[in-house]
Amino acid sequence: MSIPKGGVGFFDSGIGGLTVLSACRKVLPKEVFYYLGDNGHAPYGNLKEEEIMRYVRKAMEKFVRLQARAVVIACNTATAVCIEKLRQEYLFPIIGAEPAVFAAAKKGGEILVLTTRATYNSPRFQALCVRAGESFPNSLVKPIPCDVLAGTIEKCLLEKDFDFTLLLPKGKPNGVVLGCTHYVYIEEVVKRYYGCEVYHGNEGIANRLRAVLKKGVEGADFYKKQGETTTDIHGGNFSKKKGLFWKKKAVKKEKNSFFENIYFLGKYGKINKKRHKQMFVPK
Ligand code: DGL
Repeated sequence: MSIPKGGVGFFDSGIGGLTVLSACRKVLPKEVFYYLGDNGHAPYGNLKEEEIMRYVRKAMEKFVRLQARAVVIACNTATAVCIEKLRQEYLFPIIGAEPAVFAAAKKGGEILVLTTRATYNSPRFQALCVRAGESFPNSLVKPIPCDVLAGTIEKCLLEKDFDFTLLLPKGKPNGVVLGCTHYVYIEEVVKRYYGCEVYHGNEGIANRLRAVLKKGVEGADFYKKQGETTTDIHGGNFSKKKGLFWKKKAVKKEKNSFFENIYFLGKYGKINKKRHKQMFVPK
């Protein structure tokens, strides 16, 4: 299979990022997308930081080879642990997945934020919760690490009678944030279980990606100018960074539809492609 260069890369530990991919497909029907799931190492939530960093860097190298114009880290865990370092190492714009804590806290009352253990432990996430709590003092932001939820969703998503509510923390919150892209698959189950509003950031990521791609060349010129003075907006040495490919937009091979022009990469590409078709029937 020959893969056109110049598309947008998506990365997740497994199938979770497909929920982001499909939200992005809705707003960008003509883009070429690459999806790379590291299913063999999922779940990431209980891994050490260095290990997560190593796996994510490996994925980034694939996107460099494909001259991706932008990359979406469609994984809250990888974002929480790695995004700052990645932005110092790569030039393509990198969009992360962050728990939608602000959107939920605005509502006030008790807000449960469900995440993986690695996200929960990360200073980036802890700081986000503190900021949201300070901005909306009538909310009580309660982060809760769910150690087995993402892994179970990865394995049991298609088991019809599997009761995911057994893995949800008890409570009567006013809002619940799905702080892991795997959890988006069980959004309806969570809504019914708690009987409150449920938040995630997928539409926000899609809009952000669209805006970033639109800015494209303008953004690249900005980076270049900064490069002349050795650093760019994210810090680090410009000349050592890889991955600025704005000018080579991928050309679509086939006619445009929801499932076309998505290239599933890596050892688990076939599984992810199959899951994507099973889970995301376009309306
Ligand atoms: N989908 C991921 C996230 O958003 C990763 C979950 C995991 O692998 O533990 O956090």
